[in-house]
Amino acid sequence: SLRRLAKKHHPHLDIGTAVSPIPLFADDAYARLLAREFSMVTPENVMKFQFIHPQPDRYAFAEADAIVEFAEVNRMAVHGHTLAWKEALPRWVTQPSHSDERLRQILAEHIAAVVGRYKGRVRSWDVVNEPFEPFGAALRSGSPWYRAMGEGYIAFALRQAHRADPEARLYINDYALEHPGPKSDAMYALAKSLLARGVPLHGIGFQMHEDMTEDYQPVAASVFRDNVQRFIDLGLEVRISEMDVNLHEDDSEERLQDQAEYFRAMLELARDEPAFTAFSMWGFTDRYSSLQEWWDADGFGNGLIFDADYRPKPAYFSLRKAL
Ligand code: XIL
Repeated sequence: SLRRLAKKHHPHLDIGTAVSPIPLFADDAYARLLAREFSMVTPENVMKFQFIHPQPDRYAFAEADAIVEFAEVNRMAVHGHTLAWKEALPRWVTQPSHSDERLRQILAEHIAAVVGRYKGRVRSWDVVNEPFEPFGAALRSGSPWYRAMGEGYIAFALRQAHRADPEARLYINDYALEHPGPKSDAMYALAKSLLARGVPLHGIGFQMHEDMTEDYQPVAASVFRDNVQRFIDLGLEVRISEMDVNLHEDDSEERLQDQAEYFRAMLELARDEPAFTAFSMWGFTDRYSSLQEWWDADGFGNGLIFDADYRPKPAYFSLRKAL
């Protein structure tokens, strides 16, 4: 299996996937495949603010607890997702009447409670998710955290997470960073300045939600390698955190081969560079893929390595070969 091969030949690298409680606890075939192939899980939604902290005085830990327990029983690591994000916030947080001071306190208490609960059990966290606008160098200014604290919310969140679990590895995670350009330059500048100020930042997550269609080709492996190298040179860990390769409706043999080649190229890169701690995908079966509900409501997506009947696709075999 992928996890066994990685453990044997590339012990620096976890092979991960996003997971949700509904398939995990309702579908045995899903759970078996997950435990067989993967050494790390990222809860897809259940640790997000609105789900884990739905009311000011109420946390809802049950589903996150169940995933963490599943991981422990199956000797898998858990990557926590996510603490400070502009999405998945409950109304009680986004309502406009909070003072800046109150918002700061809400974030501080939230991080202390969630990270504290899983201290020693969640190995690493996406402390800050998607701090940048979709394209370009600007930080997202629309989130309550930014409005209350400006750019300072990022250091604040990292320090707070570090206090709650000094052993946890702390990441900033974002998309479209694999391409060189203003967004990835801005992430680099941010990381460098946080490190220079002694802020506890340990790594950068590259989501790598990719599309592969007639008129769009994802970043070439050599371009990504050069772009990621400068983060590694800062002393940071890096991870591929949410990879999928959206084929939209086209599941022709040719497209499936292209997809397989692309997954393989990215895994080889992570395999050969010890600063990569994880190669993680945003799900593993097209049966339950966020591509259907999220980016591509009209199309099937076909973005993952097992098909909707749990049959391995060419991408699965090419990942196995790369390990
Ligand atoms: C997505 C989930 O997959 C969906 O189920 C949910 O409806 C919306 O969020 N980047 C992230 C993830 O960091 O949290 C997002 O997950 C996908 C994009």
